[in-house]
Amino acid sequence: MIYLCVFSPAGHSATAAEAVASVWGSWEMIDLSRRDTDFSKYTFTQEDLLLWAVPSYGGRVPAIAVERMKQLNGAGAKAVALVSYGRRAYDDTLLEMKEILTACGFVMIAAVAALAEHTIVPAIASGRPDATDRVELAAFGKKIMEKYQSGNDSAVDVPGNMPYRIYNGVPAKPEASGACTRCGACSAACPVGAIPAENPETTDPALCITCMRCVYRCPAKARSLNAEVLAAVGAKLAPLCAGDRVNELFI
Ligand SMILES: Cc1cc2nc3c(=O)[nH]c(=O)nc-3n(C[C@H](O)[C@H](O)[C@H](O)COP(=O)(O)O)c2cc1C
Ligand code: SF4
Ligand code: SF4
Repeated sequence: MIYLCVFSPAGHSATAAEAVASVWGSWEMIDLSRRDTDFSKYTFTQEDLLLWAVPSYGGRVPAIAVERMKQLNGAGAKAVALVSYGRRAYDDTLLEMKEILTACGFVMIAAVAALAEHTIVPAIASGRPDATDRVELAAFGKKIMEKYQSGNDSAVDVPGNMPYRIYNGVPAKPEASGACTRCGACSAACPVGAIPAENPETTDPALCITCMRCVYRCPAKARSLNAEVLAAVGAKLAPLCAGDRVNELFI
């Protein structure tokens, strides 16, 4: 069996993962953004292949994804790690994924770093992964499948350093404007339950991880980060995101 295990609040990690797996035939999705799933219910065998996809947050695997990844028991199944990142850097994300997956009993045979729209400042890498990226990611998928089918289950080396980069989260949290229709979509979709169903204009700052899902999903476009904060973040990120970046395959 092939599985896509995806934590993708704003959808870009999922788009990249689906492009890689587009040459693999059928697969089952395990959605790590769901709050109502007992992930320990899944069982695997050595023949299974799992593509794990997460965004890089501050150069790390998002903490809630780590918590949910750790519920799965690999039993020797093969794993591929994919990180999507918004042009700054993914730093230690792939190394952290390798450590988690190995500890869970998976054998990480390949990894992918995919450029993606920066979901906090969408003007950075806007629209990525685009059609050209998806073709390149599918070519990566073909090479990964060849390794998997060859029976070569050597663990892959990925970039990153220990101790990992420290990530303390983003202090800004999205809030809703008067355009909110109280439809409840954001509350139902929030990966951490930070939007109360009875009061969806608000955000619990203690729970919110600034994943931007509610901003991307709100049909009324009512949710956003404070414009001044956003402008300051954009100015800080601009020089850090300059220069060439390419999609990468590690195999
Ligand atoms: C809280 C947060 C932190 C982020 N940190 C980084 C980062 O350190 N480096 C980077 O290049 N992109 C960073 N990004 C951009 C995301 O990695 C990128 O937009 C990713 O594709 C989002 O994935 P998703 O659409 O699956 O949620 C960050 C985005 C968010 C929301
Ligand atoms: S998705 Fe938008 S319109 Fe619907 S409750 Fe949330 S903020 Fe309001
Ligand atoms: S409230 Fe925060 S954690 Fe929840 S969807 Fe919005 S940005 Fe993500």
